Amino acid sequence: MDELLSLKTAFLEEIDPVTTLAELQQIKNKYSGRKGLLTARLKALSSVPPDQRPLYGKTLNEIKDFIEETLGHKELLLKGREKEKRLLTEKIDITLPGRYTRFGRKHPINQVLSEIKDIFVSMGFGIEDGPEIELDYYNFEALNIPKDHPARDMQDTFYISDDVVLRTHTSPVQVRVMEKRKPPLKIIVPGKVYRCDADVSHTPMFHQVEGLMIDSDISFGDLKGVIELFFHSFFGKGTPVRFRPSYFPFTEPSAEVDIGCIFCAGKGCRICKTTGWLEVLGCGMVHPRVFEMAGYDPEEHSGFAFGMGVERLTMLKYSIDDIRLFYENDLRFLEQF
Ligand code: DAH
Repeated sequence: MDELLSLKTAFLEEIDPVTTLAELQQIKNKYSGRKGLLTARLKALSSVPPDQRPLYGKTLNEIKDFIEETLGHKELLLKGREKEKRLLTEKIDITLPGRYTRFGRKHPINQVLSEIKDIFVSMGFGIEDGPEIELDYYNFEALNIPKDHPARDMQDTFYISDDVVLRTHTSPVQVRVMEKRKPPLKIIVPGKVYRCDADVSHTPMFHQVEGLMIDSDISFGDLKGVIELFFHSFFGKGTPVRFRPSYFPFTEPSAEVDIGCIFCAGKGCRICKTTGWLEVLGCGMVHPRVFEMAGYDPEEHSGFAFGMGVERLTMLKYSIDDIRLFYENDLRFLEQF
């Protein structure tokens, strides 16, 4: 019995200075573990003389309950303290100012390209593309542009070799698509084009959107309808649109399209050179020679084509007077869109 009581005293002395859960675990093992002192005492119960056994067993059980309860309390206490400590060391200093995230956005030219595509897609046009490094054949020859045409002048065209150029317009994709597919065709071709030219209204790279619609009975009236609908969607319903006779080697008849000057409402100003009109697009009925070279029968098919400059349309839409602003990457300019 004495030994039992001194076990309790020893336990209390040991547990008192404990400050960590690891230390506590050691004491737990020592007293109430499977090979602990209490277990050993329980096992030794049979060797206690029978007359002393009830009291001995009762006392042992009381001590066991006491030790286990004390261990439990101490564990709760230590866990609480350790959590408190952890919370203190893990504290986040929320007074540090956040880092500013700069959001990107679509370049104005891409915004306008998307808008142009949406309008034509809503009219049932599909979208095609073609190579920017193009054969002379597709860029000129197949579009009925003869060798001595001014558009082939070395000053305008970037030549890579005698037969290979950076495409000067998106029109070569007309021929590439015709070679691949049979009519009816109803496509637009947005893309980059290149010309050796640079001033307030020209950059060596700019964007065009080509259009091509071919079936068995497409008329100039269809061309007018599509183009007018496009400009009314793009610049607003009331925008005046006029067709003026012109010349392109790959269309016959050909026309240039003007819209009423949006800066002076047609009264005449510096931007429209006092004419009241702004030229925005070239178009016409696909030339029979172009059909023949692409393998279409001009007797069976008719169609129209058009091409427009995206930078120019963007400049008109947002009153921008220098095309180079698009490519200087000045955020003060770009962030306005
Ligand atoms: N390719 C011409 C240019 O770059 C624009 C053009 C005019 C395209 C008439 C056409 C067209 O498809 O029919 O100036």
